[in-house]
Amino acid sequence: MSRREIDLEQLTQSVIAPVADEQERRAEVSLRPNTLHDFVGQRELVRHLEIVLGSARSRSQSVDHLLFAGPPGLGKTSLAGIVASEMGSGLRITSGPVLSRPGDLAALLTDLQDGDVLFIDEIHRLSRAVEEILYPAMEDRRVDVMIGRGPSARAIRLDLPNFTLVGATTRTGLVAAPLRDRFGFIGQLDLYDTQELTIIVERSATLLGVTLSDDAAPTIAGRSRGTPRIANRLLRRVRDFAAVQGIEVVNTEVAVEALELFGIDEFGLDKIDRRILGLLCDQFANQPVGLTTLAHACGEEPATIEDAYEPYLLREGLLIRTPRGRIATERAFHHMGVPPRGGGLV
Ligand SMILES: Nc1ncnc2c1ncn2[C@@H]1O[C@H](COP(=O)(O)OP(=O)(O)OP(=O)(O)O)[C@@H](O)[C@H]1O
Ligand SMILES: [Mg+2]
Repeated sequence: MSRREIDLEQLTQSVIAPVADEQERRAEVSLRPNTLHDFVGQRELVRHLEIVLGSARSRSQSVDHLLFAGPPGLGKTSLAGIVASEMGSGLRITSGPVLSRPGDLAALLTDLQDGDVLFIDEIHRLSRAVEEILYPAMEDRRVDVMIGRGPSARAIRLDLPNFTLVGATTRTGLVAAPLRDRFGFIGQLDLYDTQELTIIVERSATLLGVTLSDDAAPTIAGRSRGTPRIANRLLRRVRDFAAVQGIEVVNTEVAVEALELFGIDEFGLDKIDRRILGLLCDQFANQPVGLTTLAHACGEEPATIEDAYEPYLLREGLLIRTPRGRIATERAFHHMGVPPRGGGLV
């Protein structure tokens, strides 16, 4: 594959996109930390988890139900796996959208082994009927299932083994309050700083057999939007670039050239970020824009804009949310090279 043959359009999409293709997913699994020790950053959350897990271990009991919340790619699924491996438990994985009927969840719960961790990804997407199965299961370790139909229908109660429910959500606000209240611990994951991402890039480079020199790791980390998944993806793209160029040691210059080729600028923004900012600064002349309008104009889902793009743009002070809609900041105008204007300029 020559440099010209790299499909920029497709690869740029996969760098930031929350849902990656199968190959990307497999690569991700191989880089996943398996112990709390390997899990970089989120210090306060890790400290709390050490206490929660240590205490359950010393009592030889299951861990309290745990909810992890935060933007995509920050380590929620990784943490669910870590909880199971640290407790020496089995791990069962499912997700909100997959559990469409109450019976699906009841079957899964009654099949659990003592001490298992049940991980429900995107738990905010459970239907109300399925959620109702979960309440007594979490609280009293029982499920009530209906047998038969019509007047002869009756409920039978099944006892469940000890288990720990681990839920993940991109936003705690989306989890129904009665469900949220049944978790013993809620861990909020925040975007990572460049130093933490540098450690992650260095660890992944070792695992992938990529040799980085001088400031290549912090350069990749600095363009990773505070997100380990993106740091790892950028590293793999830099590795691809180096491979096709026949470069053995990746220095900062090579990393920058590769990232620019893949459309990642010095702020770590990709073309969708720049489209968002371009729309706000230029097309909407910085009048406040509602989320749905903005999403349609970008050709993305509102939830993708809100979960995957906005947290970083907000943190970098490029965009702000007002009660009337989103506006760009002066920094964004500067970054986009557009003369500042508009009613809502900050
Ligand atoms: N703290 C960390 N230390 C090292 N690597 C990490 C860390 N957090 C995440 N990663 C890396 O980032 C990848 C994505 O993490 P993970 O799948 O756990 O994110 P997530 O929060 O579950 O994302 P989503 O909301 O999209 O499901 C992992 O495969 C792992 O390689
Ligand atoms: Mg996940």
